[in-house]
Amino acid sequence: MERAVDTPYEVFTRDDAYQAGIDHLITFAGMPPGQVVMDLGGGTGAMSVAVLERCEPAELIVVDPDETGLAAARAALGDRARYLLATAECLDEHVPPGSVDHVVVANAIHLFEDLPRAASNVFSVLRPKGTLSISTAFHRDASGEDEHRLAKATLLRALRELRSTPKRAAREERHYKERQELSRDSLVAALGQAGFGGVATESVPIAITPDFLAAFLQTDIFALAVLPDYDPAVSRPVLGKAVMEAAANDKTGGLYLRNWLFAKAIKPEADR
Ligand SMILES: C[S@@+](CC[C@H](N)C(=O)[O-])C[C@H]1O[C@@H](n2cnc3c(N)ncnc32)[C@H](O)[C@@H]1O
Repeated sequence: MERAVDTPYEVFTRDDAYQAGIDHLITFAGMPPGQVVMDLGGGTGAMSVAVLERCEPAELIVVDPDETGLAAARAALGDRARYLLATAECLDEHVPPGSVDHVVVANAIHLFEDLPRAASNVFSVLRPKGTLSISTAFHRDASGEDEHRLAKATLLRALRELRSTPKRAAREERHYKERQELSRDSLVAALGQAGFGGVATESVPIAITPDFLAAFLQTDIFALAVLPDYDPAVSRPVLGKAVMEAAANDKTGGLYLRNWLFAKAIKPEADR
């Protein structure tokens, strides 16, 4: 099918490591066929494609607040899914309570502004005994020493390159950096507080390449998080080039282990 748009996220989601994260989430979630599934923070639809191909849902609802991402998902999935432009934090305004069997959140939960509110909304839209599965490659304990070293070298190179670039005036888009970083404990606590039971987590090391890092560094949200003083249109390509150069000069030989965090939970039969 012809793609309407090709966003940076789409490039990122075609990476082998990203696909390995999706594969693991499909197995970990264990969705039976015939379910009403919601792909929350579904973005360009990479997880939705896997759900449609491997889980035989009765219905799939892709939810995302980003119009461009949702347009890409629509271009890829067409009428095999329904699309809802919404955040996790206002899900309750759009989706009837108890109407979904499984909510999957693939590599998006670290971006939620208000995790307790989002968790409570997911709890509300799930039917009793409904299930939730989550993955994220972006949490407090995701990267090891090798990646920290590479990140430092990348930032130094990028800042050197941007030396004579004027800084942007507006600083209003800093909230990602200022948010508390997601951790396994904060996630488990938010799920417990929302009323979920049977919470289980798993940490899985997946080897990522500098291409993977270059792809996500070249998204606006990460460019703004690491270089908030610069217009992301300028800093994105600089960061992409810097990470590739830093990796070529790094001792690991090009593979970095990143710990993906997976979590699942069940809504107990009796609503609280
Ligand atoms: C890295 S993308 C992952 C997309 C998709 N799940 C996948 O695996 O390819 C993260 C997505 O989370 C979405 N997102 C950010 N904040 C959100 C929120 N508060 N509620 C729901 N989705 C959100 C973004 O718009 C983006 O599409």
